[in-house]
Amino acid sequence: MPSYIVTLKEDATDEQIAAAKKQAQEQGGKIGHEYGIIKGFQVIFPEGSVHSLDSNEHVKAVEADGEQQPYSSRHAPKEPSTSHPPRDAEHGRRHARRSEAEDQVPMLAKQPLHSLSLADLVKHGRPPLSAEALLSSARFTLSLLPIRLAHRIQALRNLPYIVVSNKNISKIYNNYQHSLSTLLPWQGRTISNLEDEIRFTEVLAELVQTHTDTIPILARGFLECRKYISATEVTRFLDEHLRARIGTRLVAEQHIALHFSSQPHFDPGASPTPCPEHPSYIGVIDTALRPASVVDSCGGFVADICELNYGVRPEWVIDGEADTTFAFVPMHLEYIVTELLKNAFRATVENHMNREPIVITIAAEPPDMRPHASHIGLSLPTETRGAFGGDAIAPLDDNAPGVTIRIRDRGGGISPEVLPHIWGYSFTTFSEADEVLGGDDALSVISNASNGNSSIAGLGYGLPLSRAYAEYFGGGIGVQSLHGWGTDVYLKLKGVGKIE
Ligand SMILES: Nc1ncnc2c1ncn2[C@@H]1O[C@H](COP(=O)(O)OP(=O)(O)O)[C@@H](O)[C@H]1O
Ligand SMILES: [Mg+2]
Repeated sequence: MPSYIVTLKEDATDEQIAAAKKQAQEQGGKIGHEYGIIKGFQVIFPEGSVHSLDSNEHVKAVEADGEQQPYSSRHAPKEPSTSHPPRDAEHGRRHARRSEAEDQVPMLAKQPLHSLSLADLVKHGRPPLSAEALLSSARFTLSLLPIRLAHRIQALRNLPYIVVSNKNISKIYNNYQHSLSTLLPWQGRTISNLEDEIRFTEVLAELVQTHTDTIPILARGFLECRKYISATEVTRFLDEHLRARIGTRLVAEQHIALHFSSQPHFDPGASPTPCPEHPSYIGVIDTALRPASVVDSCGGFVADICELNYGVRPEWVIDGEADTTFAFVPMHLEYIVTELLKNAFRATVENHMNREPIVITIAAEPPDMRPHASHIGLSLPTETRGAFGGDAIAPLDDNAPGVTIRIRDRGGGISPEVLPHIWGYSFTTFSEADEVLGGDDALSVISNASNGNSSIAGLGYGLPLSRAYAEYFGGGIGVQSLHGWGTDVYLKLKGVGKIE
């Protein structure tokens, strides 16, 4: 059945909108989605019917609902305020910056993404950095971010119109547009003194903060739009989007951490991103990360959540080479291990196997003894070493010894019906459950997540997002389920090389 998007003029009153809807209904149309961001609604007419909505003086446009049409900037959801006249000069300036940012998106998004290597992140040296090295890190960060943000905005614009009009998805869209507009004024000028560098770091900190809740907001948006977009399309979008987001955040967080651990502003305690005052850290990278310590601290955290949820505290043991260390981003390892332990602990408790500890085995790959293997000095070559799957960051050295972590539980395994779906941003199971439970369960999990609380399970994002983090540096995750017995999860992490 033909479906149209009816947009009303920006000054249309609520009564005029209601009148246009009534007119559509009187002519046989059924009102579908109603938009909050733009004044408008979707209307579906029976095949072959004729309507006269175009002649309504308050209607700006009646367009065929081309759900699969590429999203054009003409359709870009505007912040609600953009339909009002600017209230003051500052507001006007922000408004102008935003439109400028909107115009620049297609051009920026055409530029290829710099395939980032970890070498890029450590090339400015080991902190504390000199003022000159810090300025060069800032300039490098600025050269990457606008293009990365524009690519994300373009991808959001390419979603079906009805999806990006959802208030949650358009909130994310507006966040990206806002971040791009705060960075664009920096382009075309050189960050050449420490004052500029401080202001630029403040912009980065705001950017990282703005995008903190992206995942639960997108999850809610896609849940609300599940009638208009297939689970496969959602997974395809989220996989690309969340992988790209890992890199963008890493670039910004790395500069922020370097800023606070560098001579001119040395104050690691003040950093909004982790940057311990420890010699093994280069920005957010720990060059001597001990996976066993991460497992223990995340295990304690997940056991607390279990205790709150189920009143029991599963146990875990670590065996293998518990003392091994390697160079990695602790935040990433913590995310992955927490998600994998949540799954293992939850299955163990629900399968009434609390007496069986979860066993975490840590195995270090033997170091490659060939000459020049895995020893990288800080005077790194500038060319990008082997690109990993498009946006991935390449490890410092392809021969760097890796670490494999096996998490073994006696939680009964994964049922054959669930197994094929575990890597999807779980919409099939989620939306079915949602229908049965009236939506409350799924939404309460999401609002918990956006309040910074942690649920033992729910979004269905744990495994796919953990895999995205693991693959970012060329690692991976494999799942072996013995249905009726338990699950083994293999987390393989590629060492990023020894940084001297
Ligand atoms: N160790 C495990 N034991 C049993 N089932 C598991 C295990 N790990 C994952 N699963 C299954 O895979 C599904 C997807 O896991 P995940 O992506 O972490 O999402 P969530 O935990 O939010 O449901 C889980 O709901 C569960 O059914
Ligand atoms: Mg999970």
